[in-house]
Amino acid sequence: MILVFDFGSQTCHLIGRRLRDLGVEVKILDPGTNIKKIKKLKPKGVIFSGGPASVYEKKAPSIGKEIFGLKAPILGICYGWQLMAKLLGGKVGSGKKEYGPTNLRIKDFHNLFYGFPDQCQVWHSHGDTVVKIPPGFKSLAKTDRVRYAAVCSAQKRLFGVQFHPEVSHTEEGTLLLKNFSSRICGLPLKPKSINIPQLVEKVREKVGSYKVVGAVSGGVDSTTTAALIARAIGKKFIPIYIENGLMREGAKKEVKQIFNKEFRIKPTIIEAKNFFLKNLKGILDPEKKRQIIGKLYIDLFEKEAKKIKGVKFLAQGTIYSDVIESKGTRKASKIKSHHNVGALPKRLDLKLIEPLRFFYKDEVREIGRKLGLPDRLLYKQPFPGPGQAIRIIGEVTKKRLRKQQQADQIVLEELKKASWLKKVFQSFPVMTGVKSTAVKGDHRFYGEVVGLRIYDSSDIMTASWSKLPYGLLQKISLRIVNEIPGISRVVYDITTKPPATMEWE
Ligand code: XMP
Repeated sequence: MILVFDFGSQTCHLIGRRLRDLGVEVKILDPGTNIKKIKKLKPKGVIFSGGPASVYEKKAPSIGKEIFGLKAPILGICYGWQLMAKLLGGKVGSGKKEYGPTNLRIKDFHNLFYGFPDQCQVWHSHGDTVVKIPPGFKSLAKTDRVRYAAVCSAQKRLFGVQFHPEVSHTEEGTLLLKNFSSRICGLPLKPKSINIPQLVEKVREKVGSYKVVGAVSGGVDSTTTAALIARAIGKKFIPIYIENGLMREGAKKEVKQIFNKEFRIKPTIIEAKNFFLKNLKGILDPEKKRQIIGKLYIDLFEKEAKKIKGVKFLAQGTIYSDVIESKGTRKASKIKSHHNVGALPKRLDLKLIEPLRFFYKDEVREIGRKLGLPDRLLYKQPFPGPGQAIRIIGEVTKKRLRKQQQADQIVLEELKKASWLKKVFQSFPVMTGVKSTAVKGDHRFYGEVVGLRIYDSSDIMTASWSKLPYGLLQKISLRIVNEIPGISRVVYDITTKPPATMEWE
């Protein structure tokens, strides 16, 4: 087994997931775990995850030095490496910040970098860096800004990397974790696949003889959740779609079709368009928007559930990236309250059931495929629970919502026409709330700027902006400024995640 100590990284669980994919048994632990308990687990390797703190902060999470007496190899990732350096007599400094893709130049191809090319692209997300390595350590790789991007003390079998091998955008990241597990820790690799009957059984056990209402949106996560629960309890699962007016055009019709065709269940539709808009009136703060939408959802579900006899559970298609960004682990930082996690009211009459809570998007698609859902559905773009409300910076009004939805359709249509729709992970326009000057028909025109966010990702924890052909970008831009009243300008967002999140709010 490899033990992963969680120092609060957004991607700690992803380290565990990559190792499990390789066939390694993993346990994620709090760094405060008693050493006796750690020893009992007899780990063959240890990983210190990254984390949001700086090692010199007063309350920075740390770990007892006894961990180095275990004799198991240790790999420190980002904060984990900085902490290891500090505990063993090195020095950490701030200032050499790196966020997003960086070129890594490798000098030593033994152990950790066995089978690597001379250079590869890795993803960083750090403010601090190690400026003096502890005695006995040497550098294995560097970047333009960071001298100790990867290090080892071969004798003590201690390793450190400043970048994140667990994210899909780090080239050869899985190879690095494979080398650590198999070449360094000596673990046999036996990849396992997701066990659907086990997931179905778990749902049955939890639900017993009760009924479940399901929050469905027609998206991959909620439809896969629905498929799993329907497989477990059949007609005792009641899908509910809330028409909040914040979805993509045509969403309601699509949900009806999906449930009629794939499940032969008629979903309950709750019409609440004006109710949502009324409650969002005058709300500018993004977190407040999320909290309001989360609360309205729950209120409506609870009200509906009371009308049905024997309902005890509310099923949600929450997946792991929603959890972690809503501060799902003790030491993680809160990025935003994903409406179905961090924005839920504390008091809930219904019990939540979220069978996909510990899976990533690509795993959810695999589960969906195994449950027989068609690719057309599984490869639909993810769509956020709070809908277009978080793509409208500032107040959500009927007018701005209409413009956003129109622009959204233009983006989708043009991507589809150019055969790019299936190649990108997500695409949407953002009403930025910024105004700029334009000249339309020889007149001065002062209107709103639309931002385009179109990017590639697989596990959602990292993303890079899509390199669309210029001609296609121009077409989208022209159509938006020409067809939608009140728009003066279109800009393309070329920020990676990290540092930027995918949605603007
Ligand atoms: P961010 O903006 O956090 O987005 O980088 C990551 C992914 O999550 C989606 N997203 C949400 N999904 N409820 C959801 O169900 C939410 O509150 C929410 N906020 C963001 C986003 O579209 C992207 O796919």
